[in-house]
Amino acid sequence: MVSVTIICGSADVDGVTIRMCNHAGRILSDRGCDVRTFIVSRMDIGHCRDCRGCSDGRCVIEDDMSQIYDSISSSDLLVLATPLHFSAPSSLLKTAMDRLQPYWYDAALPHPRFCIGLLCGGSKEPFFEVTERILRSMCLTIGMRYLGSAKIPDTDSGDVDVGSAVSDLMASVREDMGL
Ligand SMILES: Cc1cc2nc3c(=O)[nH]c(=O)nc-3n(C[C@H](O)[C@H](O)[C@H](O)COP(=O)(O)O)c2cc1C
Repeated sequence: MVSVTIICGSADVDGVTIRMCNHAGRILSDRGCDVRTFIVSRMDIGHCRDCRGCSDGRCVIEDDMSQIYDSISSSDLLVLATPLHFSAPSSLLKTAMDRLQPYWYDAALPHPRFCIGLLCGGSKEPFFEVTERILRSMCLTIGMRYLGSAKIPDTDSGDVDVGSAVSDLMASVREDMGL
């Protein structure tokens, strides 16, 4: 069975980001995937200390990141979801991303081959490029193929439809991964 790990980096558990995650999760579940979603604002995830302790492939920090490591180790697809915060990923998501440093040290650690982004921004024309580049470059660095992003602008005006942007991305995931 294809496994998917979704990491939601919004502080708002009723916001647009989690709605994007839920919509993507439903589509993937309907396709028979095993989907696990992690809301990092509800988890205890500390900052990477750059202590080099993970040079053997295991992070030394004991916190909830272990749940994400376990999930990632058997996942085929990683979904990174974030609102834009000053055009960048939220610090909640970035903190979890920085904890993926063990995969930089040990490229042989089991981890997803594919990654996608679910991004939203409050303004009418959010500058999504910065965040996309950050996600893409992390994927390049640790050996995942970035398949693209769903991008939803203008969330602060309310009444946001997450359906079509996420569904379009999921159609291209089906082509790229055969899902
Ligand atoms: C600290 C902070 C910085 C933000 N920076 C941006 C930004 O650079 N561009 C933008 O379009 N929206 C920005 N926003 C708005 C959020 O991206 C937007 O409200 C988003 O919908 C929040 O995600 P949520 O609905 O999952 O809570 C910012 C919000 C916060 C709190």
